[in-house]
Amino acid sequence: MKVYLSGLLLIVLLGCNTSEHTEKKVTITDGAKSYEVYKPSEMSSLMKGMYAYNEQIKAEIVDGNELSNEFPEEFLKIHSAELSETKLRNETFQHYSGKFIDAQRQVFMSDSELSVKDRYNNAINMCLSCHKTECTGPIPKIKKLLIK
Ligand code: HEC
Repeated sequence: MKVYLSGLLLIVLLGCNTSEHTEKKVTITDGAKSYEVYKPSEMSSLMKGMYAYNEQIKAEIVDGNELSNEFPEEFLKIHSAELSETKLRNETFQHYSGKFIDAQRQVFMSDSELSVKDRYNNAINMCLSCHKTECTGPIPKIKKLLIK
């Protein structure tokens, strides 16, 4: 029971907000049985990808290595990816997604006056700025990406 509860808690922390968290359900049927599983939105999958990508960049910066990648054009999907039903692509979202993309691009601009660590932290702070407005659940997780 304890294990079950902490598993539940984890889901609550990772999603935006439980009461609003109504991702699409899909039903998988195998002969006699059928299962209802949650299908993450395109945006949710993109966000997980952005998280993993930045985790990798953080490791390279902390190790003092050159960044091995360029700005991933895939991130531009933030402007078009389909959101969970309860989330709106409103003005606040548009504002922060633009700012975030600019900041993430800066990370890969080596001719900048700011250090790569500062540029990276600026990008992560833009993730946080947007999340503070409407999707607070993942904030503790995103904070772990910051380089101290
Ligand atoms: C412009 C606003 C905005 C920005 C910028 C943003 N996010 Fe998100 N994020 C959202 C929204 C909205 C959702 C919920 C998506 C949905 O449910 O369809 C989300 C969901 C998430 C999730 C939960 C995914 C899941 O379903 O488990 C994580 C983790 C996440 N974001 C991390 C990040 C990281 C890391 C960054 C920066 C690299 C970032 N976000 C930048 C708005 C933003």
